[in-house]
Amino acid sequence: MRGKLVVGNWKMNGGLASNAALLVALLAGWKPRADRDVAVCVPFPYLGQARDALAGSPWSWGAQDVSRHASGAFTGDVAAGMLAEFGCRFVLVGHSERRQLHGESDAEVGAKAVAALAAGLTPIACVGETLAERDAGQWQAVVGRQFDAVAAALEKDLPLAVLAYEPVWAIGTGRTASPEQAQEVHAFLRERLRQAGAAGVRILYGGSVKAGNARDLFAMPDVDGGLVGGASLVATEFLALAGA
Ligand code: 13P
Repeated sequence: MRGKLVVGNWKMNGGLASNAALLVALLAGWKPRADRDVAVCVPFPYLGQARDALAGSPWSWGAQDVSRHASGAFTGDVAAGMLAEFGCRFVLVGHSERRQLHGESDAEVGAKAVAALAAGLTPIACVGETLAERDAGQWQAVVGRQFDAVAAALEKDLPLAVLAYEPVWAIGTGRTASPEQAQEVHAFLRERLRQAGAAGVRILYGGSVKAGNARDLFAMPDVDGGLVGGASLVATEFLALAGA
């Protein structure tokens, strides 16, 4: 039985004071459950704050990106070993905003996932098609290609990763994939995972997850939790959906 995992992706939001209030509220409001893991992925400067607030609690924390390199002349980049020093459990790789705004290739995403695992972090590898790709009937080709790059890079370590299906057309748009649409893609990914000997990998859904739709999404057999943007910035909303 795959327990569910719910991860907040703060994206480039927050500040020391508002983070402190949010973290305190998450700690106070979460009732631990054996079948559910919860985490927040915060901007790099706030990793120490997240660690100090959440250490010893049911909450894990992580980052939103990582370098493929271990160290060196890579100005502005952050190595997985640095994230590990801050107690990170997770790191997102291949978020569509990185792919679209920073030109990250499938190969780059795979290399980042490898770097994360080498430092003992769990990569949450994101895949997902654009609206144009969906409308052109290409979601299988796109999601399959993105998955295959991660699987090829991780090889035997693929079972240690987490996947997130985030249809680009549902991110920050208020337009959510229906539970059935999400399940269709998750079942496609599950089959690829099964063929790769990694059927137990958790597949999160991301894209306008809210308290009002989380229960129906999480009820789908291959939806193993959520990767949540906007709603993770509001404690009451995030707590409600994480417990849905
Ligand atoms: P929203 O929940 O704001 O749509 O963002 C989804 C996302 O990109 C999470 O990584």
